[in-house]
Amino acid sequence: MKCVDDFRLRLGRHELVPIVIGGMGVDISTAELALEAARLGGVGHISDAMVPTVADRRFKTHFVKEKLKQYKYNVANDDKSGVKFDLARLAEATQMHVGRTMEAKRGSGLILINCMEKLTMNAPKETLRVRLHSALDAGIDGITLAAGLHLGSFALIEDHPRFRDAKLGIIVSSLRALQLFLKKSARTGRLPDYVVIEGPLAGGHLGFGMDWAKFDLVTIVAEIRAWLAAEQLDIPLIPAGGIFTGGDAATFLDNGAAAVQVATRFTVSKECGLPDDVKQEYYKAGEDDIEVNGISPTGYPMRMLKNSPAIGDGIRPNCEAYGYILDANGNCQYIQAYNREVAAHPDAKKIRVWDKTCLCTQMRNFELWTCGHYTYRLKDTTRRLPDDSYALLSAEHIFDDYRFSKGDAIALPAIQEPAP
Ligand SMILES: Cc1cc2nc3c(=O)[nH]c(=O)nc-3n(C[C@H](O)[C@H](O)[C@H](O)COP(=O)(O)O)c2cc1C
Repeated sequence: MKCVDDFRLRLGRHELVPIVIGGMGVDISTAELALEAARLGGVGHISDAMVPTVADRRFKTHFVKEKLKQYKYNVANDDKSGVKFDLARLAEATQMHVGRTMEAKRGSGLILINCMEKLTMNAPKETLRVRLHSALDAGIDGITLAAGLHLGSFALIEDHPRFRDAKLGIIVSSLRALQLFLKKSARTGRLPDYVVIEGPLAGGHLGFGMDWAKFDLVTIVAEIRAWLAAEQLDIPLIPAGGIFTGGDAATFLDNGAAAVQVATRFTVSKECGLPDDVKQEYYKAGEDDIEVNGISPTGYPMRMLKNSPAIGDGIRPNCEAYGYILDANGNCQYIQAYNREVAAHPDAKKIRVWDKTCLCTQMRNFELWTCGHYTYRLKDTTRRLPDDSYALLSAEHIFDDYRFSKGDAIALPAIQEPAP
């Protein structure tokens, strides 16, 4: 029986342990988590979601406060079209987040940044260009294009000196999405260095409709592999979504995958950015406590724990401070839903909004507990402590379990001796 360590991921001159820890915004996949993956010879991701906010927490900067101060006059206004990001400050925050992470990198692995197109930030093209350029300027090993078709993203960076040397990949959930991306990017004369194929069991936003359960990862990977072979295109494929054990991963690798991308198992690692009490919620969840719903204002279905405090919470939109989901015209589906409820309950002190959520504020405050389908199995990956809580794991332990365990086996952490 094979294990993940029998395989290697080759990306250019790099030979890597074929385990990629997927990007998890907002700062759930922290620099610490990504750095561990790189130290252990694999691939880690930081996320570029809400980087000014993340930088404020990490480096005690004041990007959010400054933006809020500039636009405070607009807080009570429904029209958010004038609330723009300062592109120079956005570049500064990104360079700080990426640069400090890369300075701390040890080991032979890579650190990539997950860049979501759906963060349209009230000026989609301009802000995406700055985010991509700044990450490359600050020395990121590569960029994984996520949450969107990214039809123009290669063109936005083709003038960057690192366009051909940095590792560039894309996440797709169908052959059609990959075909569109390759067609639109062909003009730049560059293929992606890898393609992450994300199936319907993943965490975060899904690249499927509410009929996600009709699809399965193995079939999509096989379709994409067959088409690439017919086109004589040799691009490493990285399946993602529901790969829970080392044995699951080894099966994909044995069937021709170049690596696997995993995330849910690492949500209960010490290095993960979720607060410790939220990690316990992930551990405690049963299968029925997880749902895919339509409350994300991006329009994509999203998987989350049903007891996420964000669900139903009717907080006032906070676009003057954040505003990452505002489209090119300054609209966000949450603002509409919120205004509708305010109009319907003019005397209420507190309103509830059930159909949409204020994604920026809720993700920033770790009140929206997005998770993968197999979150309910996390409790089988650890031990109970005397106080009945579940022991958090080191990222190294989880990484090594994926790397060396065979079949259905999951390595439990060592029993901790009680203090004398
Ligand atoms: C808590 C959480 C947050 C996530 N956030 C993002 C994100 O911001 N961008 C993204 O492209 N994928 C995101 N994902 C998807 C992962 O990067 C990964 O591809 C997927 O979850 C792998 O499946 P698994 O969780 O079953 O291992 C997230 C997943 C989780 C569990």
